[in-house]
Amino acid sequence: MLDITHFPKATKYWYMGKFHDWSELTLHPMAHGLHYGTTVFEGIRAYPTAKGSAVFRLPEHVDRLIYSAAVAKMKLPYGKDEIIAAIKRTIQANKLEACYIRPLYFYSYGNLGLVPKASPVELVIAAWEWSAYLGEKADLGVSVYIMPWRRVHHSQLDMKAKLGGIYMQSTISGLEARAQGCDEAVFLNLEGRVAEGPGENLFIVKDGVVKTNELSESVLEGITRTSVLEIAKDLGFKTAVGPLTKEEFFSADESFFTGTAVEVVPIVKITDGSDPQAGRRNYPVGTGKTGDIVRKIRSAYIDVVRGKIGKFEKWLTFVNE
Ligand SMILES: Cc1ncc(COP(=O)(O)O)c(C=O)c1O
Repeated sequence: MLDITHFPKATKYWYMGKFHDWSELTLHPMAHGLHYGTTVFEGIRAYPTAKGSAVFRLPEHVDRLIYSAAVAKMKLPYGKDEIIAAIKRTIQANKLEACYIRPLYFYSYGNLGLVPKASPVELVIAAWEWSAYLGEKADLGVSVYIMPWRRVHHSQLDMKAKLGGIYMQSTISGLEARAQGCDEAVFLNLEGRVAEGPGENLFIVKDGVVKTNELSESVLEGITRTSVLEIAKDLGFKTAVGPLTKEEFFSADESFFTGTAVEVVPIVKITDGSDPQAGRRNYPVGTGKTGDIVRKIRSAYIDVVRGKIGKFEKWLTFVNE
């Protein structure tokens, strides 16, 4: 039996149309994706609601998966409706309600030249109970380390796609931030402005305005980001989308990350490591404590994903329907 400490309640995974026991290993170590990160993936969550388990913004996630696959020039064995059906079946097969769902398209076993000319594209889907990433800090807020290395630029690769290989930069930076004593990393873009976290979009609040940056700032078009902009407006806050300078970040009243994995998490302390010559400098965000606006947005987001706010039920796909 495989250790499932970090995959609680996972019992089966779906691979190319069939369910396999979690402990069954089905992939050859020479699969192309394993060597070059030639994969595209999604991170999706389902939540318990009064009408059973519901997946948050499932069609949008699947659209983005298919978009990422097109960027990776993959020929897909399954389309949108089949992927949606397979995701629902994976949640049911594992008897999960609140869970994290990971569909992954990858170039599989066939050849190991960089061009995967004999490597078929395959799909795997897994689901397990994963509590919020950085969750233990969700109320108190997290500290971030601004990386010296800049985010891959949108002129170099399409950063709207979730391409596996790009996540090497996220992994290295996540490790470096923790080595520097912080909870999470933040990237500047090549222009020197704030881009995003390794797996999160970033917002600031200044004088009551809730602001995030544009897609041309080398960030992923986060589905939580889009949802939070709408939720914040609905709560009556002014919102803005525009370039975000480091100075704006340092002088913000509040700041927070958004993402499927983290949901909405306050950022309360910044360590700037972006200029190794200048050394590390620390800045509290606002009072250095979780602010009122992020608290309200976080609590509204939690209600929305659990189907407690009628007008946002449009974002839920009920697993048993
Ligand atoms: C680099 C990056 N930015 C932002 C996000 C947040 O995106 P979403 O809200 O769609 O999960 C993610 C997570 O998928 C990510 O990997």
